[in-house]
Amino acid sequence: MGNGTPPNRVELLRKLEAEALNCRRCGLHLGRKKVVFGSGSPNPKLVMVGEAPGVNEDLQGLPFVGAAGKFLDSLLESIGLHRSEVYITNTIKCRPPGNRTPSPEEIEACRPFLEKQMKILMPKLVVALGRTAATTLLGKGVNITSEHGRFIGCKFGGTSFRLFLTYHPAAALYSARNRSKLQEDFSKLGEIVRTSSLERDPPQP
Ligand code: URA
Repeated sequence: MGNGTPPNRVELLRKLEAEALNCRRCGLHLGRKKVVFGSGSPNPKLVMVGEAPGVNEDLQGLPFVGAAGKFLDSLLESIGLHRSEVYITNTIKCRPPGNRTPSPEEIEACRPFLEKQMKILMPKLVVALGRTAATTLLGKGVNITSEHGRFIGCKFGGTSFRLFLTYHPAAALYSARNRSKLQEDFSKLGEIVRTSSLERDPPQP
């Protein structure tokens, strides 16, 4: 810890994760191997939100550890960040069978976990990786093709932050065009990361 991390954040995240590990609020608990709660810094420069765990994440219990995750690591590196400096999680914490898009009911059942993560982490900047995260966080439909690369004010479950919209890194794996769009978006993001103070001031006593 140290480095100005509010002292109870680690403990609050640990408690919330313990709750998620026992969650049976939707049918996905029946098929999961591991719950993928989220990982990274408790005092992050930014929070990244993906869609849902895939096969590798389900096996390891960690977000973005497969091919899309490797690409995400390289995008972070391109803006001078390591995943240990950010916090990475998903819209839903358990793998949908066959990696299908999560249903609205699954997203709704899992929403309190994401809301509480945001409340604990209090990020100034959040990155929505793809449509599912963007739509869930903004509470309205988002067209990533036309809206990627934008910063939007967002209030999610009582926590306010700037939301940056971009493609899901998996979209880059089979499309060079999407890959360059993501790289361009990240260079925009990097500029904000370099020029803004992104850690919240600690609460005043
Ligand atoms: N895709 C996601 O949205 N999240 C992961 O953790 C892995 C792949």
